[in-house]
Amino acid sequence: MENIFKDMDKESAIFADKSFLDHRFLPKSLPHRSGQIGSIARYWSEILKNKSPSDVTVYGKTGTGKTVAVKFARQQLLEYTKDNKDVLLRIEYIRCTDYNTEYQIIVRLCQQLGLDVPWRGWTKAEVLNSFRSLFNGKIQKKIILIVILDEIDILLQKNGDGVLYTLTRIENVSVLSISNYIDFKRFITPRVMSSLRDKEIVFPPYNARQIEDILNERIKISFKTSIDDEVIKLCAALAAKDEGDARYALDLLRTAGEIADENNSLTVTEENIRQAKEKIEHDITADIILTLPSQQQRVLESILHLTKLNEEITSGKLYEVYKKISNGDYLTYRRVFDIINQLELLGIISTNKISRGRGKGVTNLILLQCDTSFLENNLFPF
Ligand SMILES: Nc1ncnc2c1ncn2[C@@H]1O[C@H](COP(=O)(O)OP(=O)(O)OP(=O)(O)O)[C@@H](O)[C@H]1O
Ligand SMILES: [Mg+2]
Repeated sequence: MENIFKDMDKESAIFADKSFLDHRFLPKSLPHRSGQIGSIARYWSEILKNKSPSDVTVYGKTGTGKTVAVKFARQQLLEYTKDNKDVLLRIEYIRCTDYNTEYQIIVRLCQQLGLDVPWRGWTKAEVLNSFRSLFNGKIQKKIILIVILDEIDILLQKNGDGVLYTLTRIENVSVLSISNYIDFKRFITPRVMSSLRDKEIVFPPYNARQIEDILNERIKISFKTSIDDEVIKLCAALAAKDEGDARYALDLLRTAGEIADENNSLTVTEENIRQAKEKIEHDITADIILTLPSQQQRVLESILHLTKLNEEITSGKLYEVYKKISNGDYLTYRRVFDIINQLELLGIISTNKISRGRGKGVTNLILLQCDTSFLENNLFPF
């Protein structure tokens, strides 16, 4: 038998270096974000006078380049100030999905700044005192700290604004928060608002032309083959239609490249982009189904069962089946109705109002929007 790794190291005809399409890659230039990056630089430039800068909040929908622009500005400032002897400048990046309580964030910051603070065992007051001690001037050099709190919405919803309260009250600490919602400040209480010396920067969604530029820049370094303008245009158009999301555009391109590679093609075609779109949607739906709460999964299981029997699915009929398979542990009709609406919002099912004729009113029919076998595989993966 041939070794299973045979041919695995053969060179790709499509990619020069796929890692440049990775989400973690920090590009050298960011087309169409010079305005936003310039604003960050202006606010942060206070550092050059050895002063701590204003707090900054960055808003924008997903894939509009917030994280990458802030990381870019961070890298530039660190590089520019690396010879500053008077002040120790630190810019620490924290993703609030990884560290989502005030305690965790302050411990993490202490550790990043070289303090030996353990994850467990200390009281919050002890951790806070250690952290504050860095800024009380007793350590040889003045420290200015900028804390980047990415995806701050999660933190505010789960843990409140305590961490902002703490950070904004320490001299020489400045916060840059990144949020998906323009109204995220409704989670911030007046006591914190009053100490937030806040400047705002908005990241609007990209249009198709802008996404084309971003793709073209990235293709130069990550692809070996040239790619037709029409193919790039299609990729950008699909991503622009979907909220102007550059991440989606790059994912489409990478997946299309992989499909072309698997087929031993020499370039990426429009057909590959369409196949990539389908594959990505498929993968996202699979993820959603796998991670649904169990009651939601049970409602889906009932819809699957009725679909396989070729039955018209009304919410009443669905509820009966749902109750039957739930072994006594079931929700009210009202809650199941809410779940139906949620599943529709996720695009897994659709509901259609059907008129039964004069005087008989309308009924809502539920229709599965994916393959029964696909749903079955993801509901019962083992
Ligand atoms: N102007 C740009 N030039 C080059 N690449 C970009 C640009 N804007 C975004 N990207 C790329 O698109 C992807 C998404 O960007 P980023 O992660 O910064 O989005 P985001 O606004 O932080 O989204 P989310 O709200 O989902 O976190 C990244 O791979 C990033 O490198
Ligand atoms: Mg981000």
